[in-house]
Amino acid sequence: MFTTSRGRFITFEGPDGSGKSTQARMLAERLRGEGRPVLESAEPGGTPIGQQIRRILLDPANRELTPIAELLLMFAARAQNVEQWILPALAQGKIVISDRFTDSSVAYQGAGRGLGWETVVELDRIACQGLVPDLTICVDIDSETGLARAAGRGSSETRLEEQAIEFHRKARDAYHELARREPRRFHLIDGRGTPEGVAAKVWEEIAPLIT
Ligand code: TYD
Repeated sequence: MFTTSRGRFITFEGPDGSGKSTQARMLAERLRGEGRPVLESAEPGGTPIGQQIRRILLDPANRELTPIAELLLMFAARAQNVEQWILPALAQGKIVISDRFTDSSVAYQGAGRGLGWETVVELDRIACQGLVPDLTICVDIDSETGLARAAGRGSSETRLEEQAIEFHRKARDAYHELARREPRRFHLIDGRGTPEGVAAKVWEEIAPLIT
């Protein structure tokens, strides 16, 4: 089941405004509090090169960015992240927590943009060197609630948030489909309720993986 005999690779997924980033942070803090070595990463972004790619992807001024260019940039950032940060950390026995990974591309570009799952799977094969999360926690929230929360953040990184509600609904449906297809790896968690309440549910999923 595990990608490596030493570290553990845990990813967080979910619609915009689901609260997954808060959960990723809370989990990292809890693990560190227990003396576990943790690497936190986020996509698109992660490495300094990934951060530069993130700026292109999320700048609302970049309206002309085509769906395929968007997909390739997501994977460019991911390839850099896998090689430079994630694989070395796993080899050192760290628990790597990534806020989004390939499942986001399945949901947003494969389903949301309609580029198809097969295209995303093919790029994953090239970019990720066979790396698959040991466990993925998908914090689930309906699209309207999620987007309202995300809008409340007042962030300037809004190019994807600004897409039509239909785009976001397709992405959410794809997450549900992933949960059906890969029930052992991909776990949906209800994102309603307090951050602490959701974190308790996240911990129930994580604890068996790291003992
Ligand atoms: P993120 O920084 O996680 O923002 P949020 O906390 O609002 O979810 O992600 C930024 C946006 O990038 C988000 O709208 C999802 C999108 N995204 C993709 O479309 N494909 C991808 O492969 C990734 C990693 C993110």
